[in-house]
Amino acid sequence: MKDAILSHLSENYPWKDRLHWFASIGSTNDHLKELARLGAPHGTAVLSGRQTDGHGRRGRSFHSPEGMGIYLSFLLRPRCRPAQLMHLTCAAAVAVCDAVESSVGIRPGIKWTNDLVAGRRKLGGILTELSLTPAGMVDYVIIGIGINCHQQAEDFPSEIRDIACSLDMVSGKQNDPAALAAAMLEHLTGMNKELLSGKASILSRYRADCVTLGQEISLVRGDDVRHGKAVSLDEEGALVVAFPDGSIETVNSGEVSIRGMYGYV
Ligand code: BTN
Repeated sequence: MKDAILSHLSENYPWKDRLHWFASIGSTNDHLKELARLGAPHGTAVLSGRQTDGHGRRGRSFHSPEGMGIYLSFLLRPRCRPAQLMHLTCAAAVAVCDAVESSVGIRPGIKWTNDLVAGRRKLGGILTELSLTPAGMVDYVIIGIGINCHQQAEDFPSEIRDIACSLDMVSGKQNDPAALAAAMLEHLTGMNKELLSGKASILSRYRADCVTLGQEISLVRGDDVRHGKAVSLDEEGALVVAFPDGSIETVNSGEVSIRGMYGYV
């Protein structure tokens, strides 16, 4: 598989010697975190065809069965303060949409902030994690991406069967995870180049892909659930929500999750 991924990378891809492939692993994010602690350089990537402990935000598990998807984590070491990276997950989501579009010919939507969707079902997810130096600067960030590739509806566990989909399901053809992995590595490399200088442009592309905007949503904060409308995205990627009483709140992804009023999206 590693050779297949390498064969799809362009001649100019800068970090071919920083790819780590595992047929099976606990979590690509967790493994890459360990490599980062040991000093792994900018551009290191861990990829796998199966995770036994794949996870998303708030410790939710990410179903990662063998041979069905691609699970990828990418390490960057931007020299900046954490406040300069509030839009990181948005930037990664746009890069993954670009990669899926170039590799499969279908552009996913984004359910704010980190879910990739197609036809109102979840196609994949993104988990970004950040570590700081003792001085409070960014030491490294890890962008973890899981994409469902080959599943049919019956392959998903019953609890997510009605809300999940795969690239094969939405494209009606068999897709190539190696080509998709290479496209994600290329587009994440492109994203890295504009991450600090191109925030406004990244967020305007994110807005165009974000299916949450304009939707009636439920805002979930612990046990508290409020209904409102997602009206816009601010200049850091936070969601602006209008409530029926006329109040407006700007929410960050770390503090709330969003559900559609009538389903997952
Ligand atoms: C989510 O659905 O909330 C995010 C899921 C992110 C899953 C990816 S798969 C590769 C990487 N390794 C993990 O353990 N998580 C991310």
